[in-house]
Amino acid sequence: MTALLQVCAWIHDLPWATAIRESEITFPALETVHVLSLGLMVGTIAIVDLRLLGVVLRHEPVARIAAPLLPATWIGFGLMLSTGGLLFAAEATDMYANPAFRLKLLLLGLAGLNMLVFHFTSYSRRVRWGSEVSPPVGARIAAAASLTLWTGVIIMGRAIAYFHHHG
Ligand code: HEM
Repeated sequence: MTALLQVCAWIHDLPWATAIRESEITFPALETVHVLSLGLMVGTIAIVDLRLLGVVLRHEPVARIAAPLLPATWIGFGLMLSTGGLLFAAEATDMYANPAFRLKLLLLGLAGLNMLVFHFTSYSRRVRWGSEVSPPVGARIAAAASLTLWTGVIIMGRAIAYFHHHG
């Protein structure tokens, strides 16, 4: 048994993880919050990405859209991470062997990296281009990558259920 699988087995057998797994209500309730908070997080990210691509709100300065949405994005992310972590714990050994879950975490990491690079490069120079209908190519590439990666995270999140191994 690999060290990572041993850690997953330890998490899986924790009393609270077992309680989530065995409860008729808790797991579906967590998954419901997981999916609803996806709307808050990926929904607000998608609005900014579509503005950067000049698809929506073309005449609104980017910062006037992004700044008020950012708190909602972070609240959504916090809810995704906490409910996702609890869902993971309840099925830890299953998730270890689940290719959709592994690909989802990889895409999640890439989506996070893309946001960081964007914020510390193009976005930090937004005063120069923020009101332009079509922002610089670097910002548009980041927006297209973001929409693609988050769509991938969602598809893999949904696909997890189709790769379940019921031992
Ligand atoms: C932050 C971005 C995230 C997004 C957009 C996302 C999206 C999704 C989606 C769409 C589903 C399918 C829900 C359904 O079929 O009803 C899902 C399920 C799941 N997510 Fe996430 N998720 C995110 C983060 C996480 C994290 C950080 C974890 C754990 C570390 C996680 C763990 C899970 C698990 C275990 C399931 C599967 C539950 C099951 O059907 O057995 N998610 N996620």
